[in-house]
Amino acid sequence: MTRKILVTSALPYANGPIHLGHLVEYIQTDIWVRFQKLQGNECYYVCADDAHGTPIMLKAREEGIEPEALIERVGREHQRDFAGFHVAFDNYYTTHSDENRHYANLIYDNLRRGGHIDQREITQAYDPELEMFLPDRYIKGSCPRCGSPEQYGDSCEVCGATYTPAELKDSVSVISGAKPVERQSLHFFFRLQDFEAMLREWAGERLQEEVANKLQEWFDEGLREWDISRDQPYFGFEIPEQPGKYFYVWLDAPIGYMASFRNLCDREGIDFDTFWNADSEAELYHFIGKDIIYFHALFWPAMLDGAGFRKPTRIFAHGFLTVNGHKMSKSRGTFIMASTYLRHLNPEYLRYYFAAKLADTVHDLDLNLEDFSQRVNSDLVGKLVNIASRCAGFITKRFDGRLSAKLDTPELFREFTAKSEQIAELYEKREFSRAIREIMALADTANQYIDEQKPWVIAKEAGQEEQLQAICTMGINLFRVLTVYLKPVLPKMAADAEAFLGIQPQAWGDAQKPLLDHRINPYKALMTRIDPKQIDAMLEESKESLAAANAASKESEKQVETTPEIEFDDFAKVDLRIARIARAERVEGADKLLRLTLDLGGDERNVFAGIKTAYQPEDLEGRLTVVVANLKPRKMRFGVSEGMVLAAGPGGRDLFLLSPDEGAEPGMRVK
Ligand code: 2FM
Ligand code: ZN
Repeated sequence: MTRKILVTSALPYANGPIHLGHLVEYIQTDIWVRFQKLQGNECYYVCADDAHGTPIMLKAREEGIEPEALIERVGREHQRDFAGFHVAFDNYYTTHSDENRHYANLIYDNLRRGGHIDQREITQAYDPELEMFLPDRYIKGSCPRCGSPEQYGDSCEVCGATYTPAELKDSVSVISGAKPVERQSLHFFFRLQDFEAMLREWAGERLQEEVANKLQEWFDEGLREWDISRDQPYFGFEIPEQPGKYFYVWLDAPIGYMASFRNLCDREGIDFDTFWNADSEAELYHFIGKDIIYFHALFWPAMLDGAGFRKPTRIFAHGFLTVNGHKMSKSRGTFIMASTYLRHLNPEYLRYYFAAKLADTVHDLDLNLEDFSQRVNSDLVGKLVNIASRCAGFITKRFDGRLSAKLDTPELFREFTAKSEQIAELYEKREFSRAIREIMALADTANQYIDEQKPWVIAKEAGQEEQLQAICTMGINLFRVLTVYLKPVLPKMAADAEAFLGIQPQAWGDAQKPLLDHRINPYKALMTRIDPKQIDAMLEESKESLAAANAASKESEKQVETTPEIEFDDFAKVDLRIARIARAERVEGADKLLRLTLDLGGDERNVFAGIKTAYQPEDLEGRLTVVVANLKPRKMRFGVSEGMVLAAGPGGRDLFLLSPDEGAEPGMRVK
């Protein structure tokens, strides 16, 4: 029977880039989903950007754009990065959608009618300057217990004390610097405690042991109501009939799973109710990080239950990523963005490495970069593709690409295919590291077989043609079985192998039948070794992007700065000219640079300017500005820059390109 399965990964916030820490989860989920699809199950993988909340609202303000523009841009970047790592969602959506508003309202309404929503006035810190309530994280002051300065509004990082923002001494709003005042406001609460019995029963068999233990602790502490509303200004959904009150981002975020699926259903004609009705027999799985268990194993099933929907079949939690044994660190260069990684390394290396270390636990996973390159080079290049490259040449050169009609050692082939079920079970249980171990043991066996048969020796002997063809055919067939087993992890490599073998996309069961009397294509390298230089360059680039960010923020802290005096002659050396911006283009891979083609009155220049944070290239074309025309050409990462345009301001959005009064012409000297 084909199973109906709906799978989700947590929705990333729409205010920052995807980094390698995120990718543990998306790669883990994608491997599992691809495995289910190869098994022939009806499986859908949906996700979305988590678009609401105060940080996103403030970030948009900081950039001087509407939140809609911010989430649109970040959403595009997220999808580009996921695609770069071959994470294949069936639908990637946003929580700021009509579908999500519909289900958020519906669920809230059902909960309210069921008596599970309370309302009452609460007292909260309020920023009188910005006229907004302040989340705890946006208030800083001195700890009321130990006096440490610069502590957040909810807890002290030095002595561990927890308190309310009102207890904090000398508190200030992190955003405006104003002193917060206390204010009352009506809030809405979801009565989680109404669902304790249901949750205890539901949690029974569905959670990993560590997660179940955590839940037990929470049950023992007692479940409390949950504040699900926020006051305006807020970027989110307004609560029906409650003007100025919004759903807290964490209310509509998990509902975003449903909404993304609804959007897919409407596009592809899938029956939504089959998956979400209270009595649904379809399976529903959420892959999440261990930090958001409370939301997924308590609030979410309770909301669904209270609103008359089905509950998750299981929640799969994982740990965090460390790099070289430490938390990802910007100064070490190990805070690596997905896009940075992709500029230097093949995404399947990372997919393989994560798979080789992932299991059904919430333990943290370490990306040790030395181990990473060693493992990829030895397993993927040294073992796996080596099998194909050792056999393919003979088949192509000596047999016109034709595989023989029978296997040299059928029992060895059967040994390989007999592993199919065991490996499938390990994938199913998300014991990927054990699956990889089994597969690599087979790769060792295949290499051993070739070592023993020595096709390169047989090739030199007369009258051994048939034997040579059978041995190489055998090797190619073992390789094919392995690529099917690895297909959930290495989809691109598997597709390239299918093209090389001249076969259709393989499903899991296709590994059972040998490929005989069939013509294959000439072999091209399927995977290349990691050069340590690539890793160094990736770390270097990660450090650079930090340096750029630091410089920009330092710059903006400076008030009026004074610099040493210079002689008039020094100034006279600078050749300032009026230039017309003939063309302005984005530079792929650069966060801050635009490529400008400047017209200096007949003389054309290519200049890279760090003004992307403040200008859309389209808005610059045709306008006049001032350029340092005799600056020695500088080689930059993206090309040679032949001059410098002048702009004022601290950086970021606040950059102002100088421009002359009307009448100035390109090429005129500025004196
Ligand atoms: O922790 C986070 O990054 C959240 N944006 C995850 C949301 S998952 C789901 F509930 F939407
Ligand atoms: Zn303290």
